[in-house]
Amino acid sequence: MKTYKLINLGSRFLKYSGILSNRLDSEIILSHVMGLPRERLLIKEKEIEKKEISKFKRLILRRSKSEPIAYITRKKEFRSTKFFVDNNSLIPRPETELLIDPIISIFKKKKLFFLDAGVGTGCIIFSILKELKHSKGVGIDKCKKTIINARKNLISLKLESRAKLIHKSISNVFVNKFDLIVSNPPYIINRDIKRLSPDIIKYEPRSALDGGNDGLDVIRKVIYKSKHILKLNGILALEIGNGQYSSVMKILRASNFRQKKVLKDYKNNIRCIFSTLQK
Ligand SMILES: C[S@@+](CC[C@H](N)C(=O)[O-])C[C@H]1O[C@@H](n2cnc3c(N)ncnc32)[C@H](O)[C@@H]1O
Repeated sequence: MKTYKLINLGSRFLKYSGILSNRLDSEIILSHVMGLPRERLLIKEKEIEKKEISKFKRLILRRSKSEPIAYITRKKEFRSTKFFVDNNSLIPRPETELLIDPIISIFKKKKLFFLDAGVGTGCIIFSILKELKHSKGVGIDKCKKTIINARKNLISLKLESRAKLIHKSISNVFVNKFDLIVSNPPYIINRDIKRLSPDIIKYEPRSALDGGNDGLDVIRKVIYKSKHILKLNGILALEIGNGQYSSVMKILRASNFRQKKVLKDYKNNIRCIFSTLQK
């Protein structure tokens, strides 16, 4: 069977299964199976071997059950870098990219020592380390399997000498004093989780989503702990959920943090707060 015919077949099956991005997904899955960039696959018709057709069908079937493409291909791009990901880690999101450039511009002349609380795939810590070559970072996560995934990315990005990954909860970090603490904590209100799309509910780790009864459980933990492990005038950079700005600011103020800047997503919602620790 030839490329186009197979892509059409996959796309039709996904459409029938209610997958809106059926054409694109079918193309991505075939390019993954063939080990070829999507553009090359589309330029030249090719006869596909039986073994590859069977693999393609298996992966299309997984996608038809709403499994995210990133888990099927085991990779996701974040700031043009490929990160290994499977269903033990949250798939890096575009809004998290918002955090990186401001951090780089604030610390570009410094030897930064920072903590990424809830490291996931490591997309935040490694993106910062890739740009700030004299910096060091510690990434923690309470999920052991996600730390194993982050370690794969640490090795493939060759950042072993500047990053440490530790399996622990933010509540158990005691010793260090950091210049920066960055975190994209779970922040979904738990009763709202059932309203997320099936891709998320069925496949992404609940511990990466669930922020407790008001969505703020882990945010609170990060803020309370940061008060003790951040240097004076150090920066806490938090990604927050849509509509959480006022409640998070209240917690920050009560812990002696002052707002430094906020970042908005393309829908004009405040999605990140940078604050500094005062005396
Ligand atoms: C929303 S995900 C973010 C992952 C990654 N930083 C990113 O931006 O893609 C939140 C992460 O925090 C971790 N986590 C949840 N509660 C935690 C806690 N108390 N201490 C440390 N990590 C925690 C979860 O396991 C998950 O990997």
